[in-house]
Amino acid sequence: TIEQSLRPQTLSQYIGQDKVKSNLSIFIEAAKMRQETLDHVLLYGPPGLGKTTLATIIANEMGVNIRTTSGPAIERPGDLAAILTALEPGDVLFIDEIHRLQRSIEEVLYPAMEDFCLDIVIGKGAGARSVRLDLPPFTLVGATTRAGALSAPLRDRFGVLSRLEYYNEIQLENIVERTAELLDVEIEDKAAFEIARRSRGTPRIANRLLRRVRDYAQVRGNGIITESLAHDALELLQVDRLGLDHIDHKLLRGIIEKFRGGPVGLETIAATIGEESHTIEDVYEPYLLQIGFLQRTPRGRIVTDLVYKHFHMEIPRE
Ligand code: ADE
Repeated sequence: TIEQSLRPQTLSQYIGQDKVKSNLSIFIEAAKMRQETLDHVLLYGPPGLGKTTLATIIANEMGVNIRTTSGPAIERPGDLAAILTALEPGDVLFIDEIHRLQRSIEEVLYPAMEDFCLDIVIGKGAGARSVRLDLPPFTLVGATTRAGALSAPLRDRFGVLSRLEYYNEIQLENIVERTAELLDVEIEDKAAFEIARRSRGTPRIANRLLRRVRDYAQVRGNGIITESLAHDALELLQVDRLGLDHIDHKLLRGIIEKFRGGPVGLETIAATIGEESHTIEDVYEPYLLQIGFLQRTPRGRIVTDLVYKHFHMEIPRE
């Protein structure tokens, strides 16, 4: 698909995450020199920063196939057994949202990760017995938005732990320019920067905004994405100067207007604004915490003075 062809295929094409990249490139090269399978890799960090892309690149750089699944998609131990037994030696198994694996399935994964074997129980009751099945050696690449949500025994079985960070504006500008080139659309430097600035440190958002701005430039302009067209399109998309969208606004205003700025619990906020608490926690909060708009306290979330300033509201006195 077009979506896949836009993704970088090699570490050298991948922009940003320099520490993660330089570590991975050494581990990959060393594994290849020893003709071994790469150790299991856990990628963690907020959504949209490139965990799936990196998993694909790891497989590509190792010269092996990738099998992709996700925590919630594996419903029974047999589902995982079917995937594991179908792997070829050295393959990458990518499990997205790995923190959502059930415990009973995690337990199948432990011996698979550690000794490349599978313990399966045959039969029921008194006649039941366990047989051990050898698996091809493989690399598990797990991705999660919350490393803390992983059980300790699972986390401990990864040899490489890599945390992805929010991208800076220059890196995002480079990503926007790279994607524009692949989409064969001309974009002014200042337009690329404007999109980058409003992308919340997140390539997935940058590339999505680029597509919407491209639509706008095609209909309202002559197809070239100028700074002024980008600016108008982004206004229309209700993405503000900091990249906050209407859900961020609803969240922040909700805390100010209904709870006097907090502290207020996550579930209460979720119910008030009608969003899933998991979505708030995994998608919206991390960036608001990062830019210092929200703070987490033992008694709940509070908005900071920065939010009142951003909304041109008077800062309430204690
Ligand atoms: N597209 C999305 N994320 C990217 C990245 N980190 N580098 C290059 N292109 C990308």
